[in-house]
Amino acid sequence: MTVPALDLTRVLPHAVIPGLPGLHRGKVRDSYDLPDGTRLLIATDKLSAFDRALAVIPWKGQVLTGIARFWFEATADIVPNHVLGYPDPNVLHARRVSILPVEVVVRGYLAGTTSTSILSMYRAGARTVYGHRLPEGLRDNEALPHPIVTPTTKAGDGGHDEPLTAAEIRDRGLLPAGLWDRVEATALSLFRRGQAIAAANGLILADTKYEFGTLPDGTLLLADELHTPDSSRFWLAEGYGAALAAGTRPPSFDKDVIRAWVAARCDPYRDPIPEIPPAMIAETAQTYVAAFRAITGGGFVPDMRGATPLDRIRANLAAFGAT
Ligand SMILES: Nc1ncnc2c1ncn2[C@@H]1O[C@H](COP(=O)(O)OP(=O)(O)O)[C@@H](O)[C@H]1O
Ligand SMILES: [Mg+2]
Repeated sequence: MTVPALDLTRVLPHAVIPGLPGLHRGKVRDSYDLPDGTRLLIATDKLSAFDRALAVIPWKGQVLTGIARFWFEATADIVPNHVLGYPDPNVLHARRVSILPVEVVVRGYLAGTTSTSILSMYRAGARTVYGHRLPEGLRDNEALPHPIVTPTTKAGDGGHDEPLTAAEIRDRGLLPAGLWDRVEATALSLFRRGQAIAAANGLILADTKYEFGTLPDGTLLLADELHTPDSSRFWLAEGYGAALAAGTRPPSFDKDVIRAWVAARCDPYRDPIPEIPPAMIAETAQTYVAAFRAITGGGFVPDMRGATPLDRIRANLAAFGAT
């Protein structure tokens, strides 16, 4: 299997497509709510951090859609999901759900960088996080005694996600009684499956985020993306032990190269983003391809048909009304 050469100009910076109704522009995906109650989720090549797009990475949208597909297929026996099909390598056709107003984060390790991460909380002295008691003496990036669910609010544009406990979800009436218990149990089952498959491929699934939703009849579905490098933290099992002992960050595939480069040069939340060196973009593209191979255990063959990725997607979505 030969992988075509990387072409930094052949990218999908957006997926705004004439003829398709109900456009929602997300941080990474452009989605369309169709009149038949379904939704097209088109993964662009945008790399998002600090609540903005830092760069456009060739093949990233295809890689993410392919990884999510692998996991939806590998977990369909645990919970029904929103997938109807994949009309294009960048596109997931889904049943539209009403997304629950809680981000379902599952953590197996003491890790993270943001203020809602349990590592930040633990370092600041907290021993009860999101309603879970943590033991004394955990080291940075060490495994927790067992995975925990650490939900947050879904703040949306510009807002900041706020930690929640199961009691708060109930008391604030965020979810109907009983639903949180089902979501939590399902998320833990998905996470254990994810960790087992990752381990078989030499990876550690350290933490992840799920989005669940309901159909009009109340059926609970797993929605959004699943165990992708954008929604999850993966580490390489080889090298994890040494990093833990040394107190350094475990080896991983992540967007930290570009993130760190940008953060070192400007206030990434406010200043214009400096132009990212092409070599760094190419390296990040290869990192995503490496993640695809490692996670799925299969080869990655980018779909290079069409004059541009957007042209190909438009053609593949003609049956949905795209022009
Ligand atoms: N089956 C679905 N039905 C309705 N909305 C969905 C479904 N699956 C995912 N979504 C929503 O589609 C959007 C995906 O785009 P994304 O770039 O992730 O946006 P965001 O910036 O909100 O994270 C998210 O808002 C997600 O909640
Ligand atoms: Mg999202």
